[in-house]
Amino acid sequence: MTESRRRAFVAANWKMHGTRRMVLDYASDWPETTPQVDIVLCPPWGYLGHVRSVFDGKDIRFGVQHTEIEPHGAFTGEHAAEMARDLGAEFAIVGHSERRRLFGETDEVVAGKFAAALRAGLTPILCVGETLDERRQGAAETVVATQLDAIIDQCGASMLTDCVIAYEPVWAIGTGETATPAEAQEMHAAIRAKLVRQGVAQAEGVRIVYGGSVKVANAPELFAEPDIDGALVGGASLDAVEFAEICCAAA
Ligand code: 13P
Repeated sequence: MTESRRRAFVAANWKMHGTRRMVLDYASDWPETTPQVDIVLCPPWGYLGHVRSVFDGKDIRFGVQHTEIEPHGAFTGEHAAEMARDLGAEFAIVGHSERRRLFGETDEVVAGKFAAALRAGLTPILCVGETLDERRQGAAETVVATQLDAIIDQCGASMLTDCVIAYEPVWAIGTGETATPAEAQEMHAAIRAKLVRQGVAQAEGVRIVYGGSVKVANAPELFAEPDIDGALVGGASLDAVEFAEICCAAA
C-alpha cells in the first residue's frame, strides 16, 4: 500500500472450515508480535465466541461471514447482524460471490444485508467481482459498477464511506489463479473513481482490498499497487503462519 492515509486491512475468511482444536493450534502458531495492520478473523458463526476468547488480548478484530437482513424473528437457522455485534464482531462480509451464487443472494438482498450490518453497528466488507465470462465479454467494470449501484440505490452513496470494499473476481476464488497486480489495480482504481463520481465522502479513505487466491507468494506485488489496500484471504488464511505473513506484507 502506498497511500499513507489508508491503513492496510487484511481479513481472513475461513469459510466453512475450522474446529475447536484448529482454533487452538491457530492461536499457538500466531506470532508473538501481531503485524501492524487491521486484522480481522471471520470464522464460521459457531466458533466466533471461541475464537474471540482464544485471541483475547491480541490486536485482532472479528467478523462474521454473513448475516440475515432482519434483526430477529422466525428465521430458523439464521443469524442477525445484531447478534454478531452482541457476540463482539465488528465486521460482516456482505455479498460474497459464494453467497450470491450458491445461496441466490441478489444485488437487492446484498444491499439489504449491507444496510442491516450498518444498522447493527458492524462495518460491512462488501464483496464485488465479475465472473470469467463477464471479464471475457469486457463487462467486468460494468458488473462491479452495477453491484455498487445496488448499494447506492438502497442505502445511499454516503453509506459507502463506512465500509471496506473487497474486489474478488469470481474466477480467482479458490482457483489458484490470481488477477495480475495490474488487472487488480485497474479495477480498484475504477471502483475508487466511481466512489468519487458518486460523491462518497472521503472516497480516498475507503479501503479497497483484493481477494482471490492471495498467498504469501503473490501478496507483496499486489500490495505494492497504489489502490490495493489489503486482502480478503480465503484458503491461505487457514494457516496462521501464512496468514500472519500476508498481514506483514501489507504492513
Ligand atoms: P481464496 O483465497 O481461497 O481464493 O478465497 C478468496 C475468498 O473468497 C475470500 O473471501
